[in-house]
Amino acid sequence: MDKFINCNILLLSDTMSFRIILLGPPGSGKGTQAEKLNDDLGLITLSTGDMLREAVRNGTELGKMAKSYMDKGGLVPDDVVIGLVKEKMATLKEGFVLDGFPRTVQQAEALGEFTEIHHVINLDVDDDELVSRLTKRRSCPDCKVVYHLLFKPPMKDGICDKCGAALYQRTDDTEETVRARLKVYRDNTFPLIEYYEKKGILVNIDGRGNINEIYEAIEASL
Ligand code: AP5
Repeated sequence: MDKFINCNILLLSDTMSFRIILLGPPGSGKGTQAEKLNDDLGLITLSTGDMLREAVRNGTELGKMAKSYMDKGGLVPDDVVIGLVKEKMATLKEGFVLDGFPRTVQQAEALGEFTEIHHVINLDVDDDELVSRLTKRRSCPDCKVVYHLLFKPPMKDGICDKCGAALYQRTDDTEETVRARLKVYRDNTFPLIEYYEKKGILVNIDGRGNINEIYEAIEASL
């Protein structure tokens, strides 16, 4: 209960109704801030990237298909990702954070048909910083915590602080694939900023600088 009592802005009963989208380019800190929202407010994170990587890791048919898109930095087809999120969301009874979904207007429209969203947080970071962040990112395959070799290093080299698993570098975190992902973001996901602005639920947050200060800005906007 401490995490709720410590939060001077939000009450436990409020967190049950929080439905948040974290929007922003690859590397803007969606996963990092989703983890903080989970630690602080107990909001469940639904990350389509994590779900798809899990399927790749398990060698399922979905994983094999998804890998062919992910390795090139492209998007997995809308109907597949919409189906995944819809199924997962049906099991949720609490507030949640969507990390990496929606990524196209078609996904946003489908989402609007099966749930109501209260807040869309758009994290804004320039391309050069994004490339530098992603090429130095290390991820935990088990508990999904993300690190950065300079800005958020693990206490023990190559080992996850939270669960002790060996960290790895994502195959799509090479400079060439990151640049391809940024183009895909601009062409397909950037229009969602205007889409949610028109609905009056979008807040822009500067995603550069200290991770805790960015979190405070997010929390203050809720
Ligand atoms: P996904 O896993 O969703 O990747 P992404 O959107 O490209 O985002 P990232 O996870 O790379 O970055 P992030 O914003 O979470 O940043 P993070 O917090 O890790 O998707 C991967 C692929 O799956 C897609 O390319 C696509 O193929 C497929 N896919 C997924 N969803 C899909 C969908 N809906 N439709 C279709 N296809 C889909 O931070 C990055 C680094 O920066 C870390 O090292 C972190 O420690 C560091 N960092 C964070 N904040 C700061 C800060 N303030 N200062 C300095 N460093 C920081």
